[in-house]
Amino acid sequence: MTSRNEKLWDGRFSETTDAFVEAFTASVGFDFELASFDIQGSIAHATMLGRCNIIPKDTAAAIINGLTAIQEDIDAGEFKWSVGLEDVHMNIEAALTEKIGDLGKALHTGRSRNDQVATDVRLYLRHHIDQILEQIKILQRGLLQLASAHTDTIMPGFTHLQVAQPVVFAHHLMAWFAMLRRDSERLVDCRRRVNVLPLGSAALAGTSFPIDRELVASLLSFDEVSENSLDAVSDRDFAIEFTSAASLLMMHLSRWSEELILWASPQYGFIELPDRFCTGSSIMPQKKNPDVPELVRGKSARVFGSLITLLTLMKSQPLAYNKDNQEDKEPLIDSIKTVSDCLRAFGDMLPNVIPKPEAMREAAARGFATATDLADYLVRKGIPFRDAHHVVGQLVATAVQQNVDLSELPIETLQLASASISEDVYQVLTLEGSVAARAHYGGTAPKTVRAAIAQAKRQLDESD
Ligand code: ARG
Repeated sequence: MTSRNEKLWDGRFSETTDAFVEAFTASVGFDFELASFDIQGSIAHATMLGRCNIIPKDTAAAIINGLTAIQEDIDAGEFKWSVGLEDVHMNIEAALTEKIGDLGKALHTGRSRNDQVATDVRLYLRHHIDQILEQIKILQRGLLQLASAHTDTIMPGFTHLQVAQPVVFAHHLMAWFAMLRRDSERLVDCRRRVNVLPLGSAALAGTSFPIDRELVASLLSFDEVSENSLDAVSDRDFAIEFTSAASLLMMHLSRWSEELILWASPQYGFIELPDRFCTGSSIMPQKKNPDVPELVRGKSARVFGSLITLLTLMKSQPLAYNKDNQEDKEPLIDSIKTVSDCLRAFGDMLPNVIPKPEAMREAAARGFATATDLADYLVRKGIPFRDAHHVVGQLVATAVQQNVDLSELPIETLQLASASISEDVYQVLTLEGSVAARAHYGGTAPKTVRAAIAQAKRQLDESD
């Protein structure tokens, strides 16, 4: 990056900017990421200025050609960014004048960097929301693929991290799917409020030129035009909304990460992670560490941090634009990169997770996971639930003492606890019987889960 000093605003200044202040106030080191959106916005603005006869049509055409050539320079890695020109907007505008001469100076007519940057950030965010939504879909498809293969694989369901009741593995995966569905709904909703055009608000009050904002909005595929110029140049609530939705998404991914890490440990042994998603230890030769889920769990912190940064940045700002807002870019850019890297990592890894059904089953069989089924059985025999609960509690204590499962207790022992128990009890004490009994909508019965997967697939296909 170079430091040129051809300031675009130095008319009223009598001394050059202090070198430290120049670097301190510059944002091009990070907002260059907005370049292609800045150019898109400028092309739409120039098109409108030409069509509304605010600038001559051939000037508009020259500007558009110049901007297109600048985009090519940027794509080719040949564009020289200058800290002296402060930000992405002034770098591009200065380059335009360098390329096409004085005609380039007409571009900023009826516009300010304040409505320009608000427009760029919205275009940038909209683009990335769309990409993130696609990545979520890829991950959802991966989950469905894994779930489809495991609708009969029984594992323990947990509460308090204690074995609670048996569930099928696919049901657990579909819980993750449901979280992702809400995450994408939140992003779609947030996108509606992102997709509003600020351009035309100029510095804060609008412009005295006869602009056509609807035209600019349609050129840039914005659904709406902002309703108040002061609000449009200043508020970054849409970015806060995004980081909030992104934080919830990362919170979900961190929960999955935690489970994958636990399941991959030898103590659980429920899954194996493919070697290519793990790393070794430099000292302990036996180690295979679940680095990818650990990092995803850790990276959630960055996105939560960005949410708090943006909230704090916006808090107490008076209307309208303040330079504080330049600080919105780094947290936003970082959140987008983090979320999209984590989704990519999970999208690649999840369909390749290797489940270990025997270990899952053994853990479910070991933990008295069918105790509730036995209580429900007694209720069906006419015993009030509270009493049934007590009887089963006593039987669990007996089984613990004898180091056997409930299904291994002889009928005499069971009947001693309750005369209502007969031979048919052993059916409800099986893991298969337990999951199959929960066949209502939302339950873990294999046939219910298969229907849930089929419905989820249909919905994903429809949204393509
Ligand atoms: N780099 C600035 C930002 O990111 C652009 C807007 C500057 N506007 C101004 N009046 N100084 O917010």
